[in-house]
Amino acid sequence: MTTLRIKSNMADVVLQTEGGSGGIVIDDDWPGYSLELFSYPAHYAGDLQCVVVPHGVIMDRTERLARDIMDDLGDHDIVVLCVLKGGYQFCADLVDKIKALSCNSDRTIPMRVHFIRLKSYLNDKSTEDLHILGAEDLSFLAGKNVLIVEGIIGTGKTLKALLKHVKAFHPKMIKVAGLLVKRVPRNTTSLPDYVGFEIPDRFVVGYALDYNEYFRDLNHICVISDSGKMKYKI
Ligand code: HPA
Ligand code: MG
Repeated sequence: MTTLRIKSNMADVVLQTEGGSGGIVIDDDWPGYSLELFSYPAHYAGDLQCVVVPHGVIMDRTERLARDIMDDLGDHDIVVLCVLKGGYQFCADLVDKIKALSCNSDRTIPMRVHFIRLKSYLNDKSTEDLHILGAEDLSFLAGKNVLIVEGIIGTGKTLKALLKHVKAFHPKMIKVAGLLVKRVPRNTTSLPDYVGFEIPDRFVVGYALDYNEYFRDLNHICVISDSGKMKYKI
């Protein structure tokens, strides 16, 4: 168990993860990188405030997570459960990196990949109703080692509900990889075993994370601007 104590301007927030580290910590007062320093699609000009995690850094961190997963699960068969839509890019890149390690060492992880879809956000707010699609019958998970792959964990409520759902199918083991974990006061300990980055409680987009379905076609993880929120509000 790793315990991280982070001073945020809201409260003293303690994140606890079993096993893995809490990831690269991005502080609340980190202003991000200017968008002028990177390239991004012209159709999003004015819609973004800053770059929080550049694409290359995401890839480098993902490579290390793949190694950590290989160290823990090497030679186990796993079922990767990709949580759509926000997790698709991270899942694809993580699976690629695990595949590369499997080709270049004497340890391998045979993987199957399954997709489920969760939806709980409207605009930048979490809604109460969580929809799980493609997860009706997960009975093939019985006795399997499952790696759930999520793009972002906010309050952790979604992850908690998903874990409960998956556990009901009696897998042998469940591990969770989350690219981003938001630093929010939470009353659940359902946090990932493998965390890419711990970020401030701000609405981020890009690398498959959306705001009302926009910005999935952006490579970097960015903070959306107020005018971007207005433009794509529904
Ligand atoms: N961005 C996109 N999707 C999300 C976020 C976010 O910051 N938090 C929870 N789902
Ligand atoms: Mg979304």
